[in-house]
Amino acid sequence: MPARAREASTLVTEKREFKAIKGTRDILPPDSALWNWFEQTARDVFETYGFRDIRTPVFEETELFARSIGVETDVVNKEMFTFSTGHDPDSTGESAPDRTYSLRPEATASVARAYIENEMQTLPGNAKLYYMGPMFRRERPQKGRYRQFYQIGAEVLGQSDAPAIDAEVLEMLVVFFKRVGLTRTTLYVNSIGCKDCRPQYVELLREKLREVKDQLGPDSQRRIETNPLRVLDSKLPQEQPIIAKLPRISDHLCAECREHFAKLNEELGLRGIVYEENWRLVRGLDYYTRTTFEVTAEGLGSQNAVCGGGRYDGLVELLGGPPTKGIGFAIGSDRAILSMQEGGKLPHLPGLAVFVAWMGQAAYPTAVNITRKLRTAGLAVELPAEEMKFKKSLGLADKLGASYALIIGEDEVASNTFTLKRLADSEQKKLSELELLEYLESERRGSR
Ligand code: HAM
Repeated sequence: MPARAREASTLVTEKREFKAIKGTRDILPPDSALWNWFEQTARDVFETYGFRDIRTPVFEETELFARSIGVETDVVNKEMFTFSTGHDPDSTGESAPDRTYSLRPEATASVARAYIENEMQTLPGNAKLYYMGPMFRRERPQKGRYRQFYQIGAEVLGQSDAPAIDAEVLEMLVVFFKRVGLTRTTLYVNSIGCKDCRPQYVELLREKLREVKDQLGPDSQRRIETNPLRVLDSKLPQEQPIIAKLPRISDHLCAECREHFAKLNEELGLRGIVYEENWRLVRGLDYYTRTTFEVTAEGLGSQNAVCGGGRYDGLVELLGGPPTKGIGFAIGSDRAILSMQEGGKLPHLPGLAVFVAWMGQAAYPTAVNITRKLRTAGLAVELPAEEMKFKKSLGLADKLGASYALIIGEDEVASNTFTLKRLADSEQKKLSELELLEYLESERRGSR
């Protein structure tokens, strides 16, 4: 037995309790139904825009993230869960390299890797892909910030960088937020230039920051040299007046980037998308070029960004692929759902339709049969495995949130009928099997 397994086998004899690891959590019913509905709505909306699902692994080579997101970013520098393969049982030689893997902190890098590996540039049109699933960052947990959190993302990769693509991606995002009822949001948009104009701006910013270095906090002081753009992200109150006086990228964009941004504004206007320009929106990942955006929502405190995204035209090439343009976003599902819950505007999701209150062994075969038929018709039905007293049965039906109790006792068996009781107002009907099926099916269609 390997040493680690031996160690574990001695541990299992000690009595102890297990808890979800710090920064992770269980999503339980009824919340999980809200999550499923939220994710299904994203699928429905995204597919109307021609996006299709992509599923990439939850771990990749560490270097993929380091190259894409940038070694100096907080995500790569401090927040990745990284592990080495150790001895890989599939490798033949002892000299097989010991690779380092990381749990994905985001999925844009993985999608770009998959695009290259699967030669998606050979497919017709742009690759329009969406994904949803867990991401992992070793951040300090707090409200709306977890170490395992969930994103719903969408990416467009292809040959064109037309601002109409940026605008359509933003339209899709706005339509989705509206569809789920997340309305107390603000969309911020910016352009951070390209590889031709941004370096000059960054140098200028660095020079200006050096002049005010002693008025800045330690994080910003460090960033002057490593990544001066990130200073613009600072939330420190004493740095705000200093930042307000710094040169703005919009005044230093090259002619092409300026035109791209102007056209994007026009395209957004055409689509009636309400947004605010925010020159300080630089984002924390290195792959961005030109368009960047973020959506904030109310009710979340300091972790109020529910979506972030932007253009990343050089990323695929940086990872060894063909010259490719790209744009996308990721919605933080945990935060978006939290904001919906705090806002109190939640959808009415169908729960248990029928609780089968059967009494007496003679009623049991009828109960089993009708339960199967109702379920086949698409209704959610609970059939108690053991006989219960009538009162207890109805009490449980109520606690489980059933819409109806289907009563099957001696009388019903004798008369070949069912008694259907609506729990909201206790109204009762006696129905034949056919009438029952018809009635409940039409109710179900009406509630959708
Ligand atoms: P991001 O801004 O790092 O961008 O993350 C997107 C969203 O994920 C955030 O706005 C937030 O809602 C959520 N999020 C991030 N970290 C956490 C956390 N620790 N706990 C809870 N929620 C979190 C990206 O990940 C890019 N890949 C987005 C993108 C796609 N850009 C282009 N394409």
